[in-house]
Amino acid sequence: MEQELAAGWVERWDAQQERYAHRREERFAVIVDLVRRATAGDRAPVVLDLGAGPGSLAARVADGVPGSRVLAFECDPVLVAIGRSWCGDRVEFVEEVVGAPGWSSTIPAGVAAAVSSTALHYPSLQQLRSIYADVHRLLRPGGLMANADHFGPPDRTPHDPAHLEPWHSWWRSAADAPELAEAFTLRRSAPAVNGDNRLTVQDHAEALTAARFVEVEAIWRDGRSAVIAARRPH
Ligand SMILES: C[S@@+](CC[C@H](N)C(=O)[O-])C[C@H]1O[C@@H](n2cnc3c(N)ncnc32)[C@H](O)[C@@H]1O
Repeated sequence: MEQELAAGWVERWDAQQERYAHRREERFAVIVDLVRRATAGDRAPVVLDLGAGPGSLAARVADGVPGSRVLAFECDPVLVAIGRSWCGDRVEFVEEVVGAPGWSSTIPAGVAAAVSSTALHYPSLQQLRSIYADVHRLLRPGGLMANADHFGPPDRTPHDPAHLEPWHSWWRSAADAPELAEAFTLRRSAPAVNGDNRLTVQDHAEALTAARFVEVEAIWRDGRSAVIAARRPH
């Protein structure tokens, strides 16, 4: 797929995600800043993006942390195809279900940071606990875990502005695009992930603490939208 075509899909993806992820760009900026500070002095820090979609956050980290090696984990072949074309050399996509047996087998030792955006509401609490334990094991001492999402059950003041394209409309258009036909064929036999665990900030904080993370904190928040950060102890 031409990079220009992929860029169009990502632009439309980002607009669509804004409908659900309140102040998404600000959350991204908070995470990039956290990663930059956590990796200051590292020569080639490895950063993981869990549930990367087409690489919106992964690309911002790669651009904002020069010299970093960003591994974007995403299980949907359509989003991986778009992301690979759009990001080029900036990001390495890994088509895996995070948390599935062996998902982390290719990750090098001593990861500096793991980030995620609007994805860790998919796994069940049990799966999330296991993912946090895996991330704790993969991080170097002092390594960062940062997660931006909407937390808890939907409230009475949904942020989804009506002028932004809904999720299903984006997917319907993508399914009709000739440049994505091959990826949609692969998608039919790919493992599907879905679900909304509705876990609160407090639930995540408890799961991170149970996985032996420290300095667990919601460092940015606006209603349900928040960024939670934590560290593996030194
Ligand atoms: C709402 S999208 C957000 C994508 C991207 N992080 C962003 O902010 O634009 C959530 C993504 O997480 C992916 N995802 C959810 N659970 C996953 C898992 N266990 N392993 C890999 N990808 C997962 C989904 O396939 C989906 O593409």
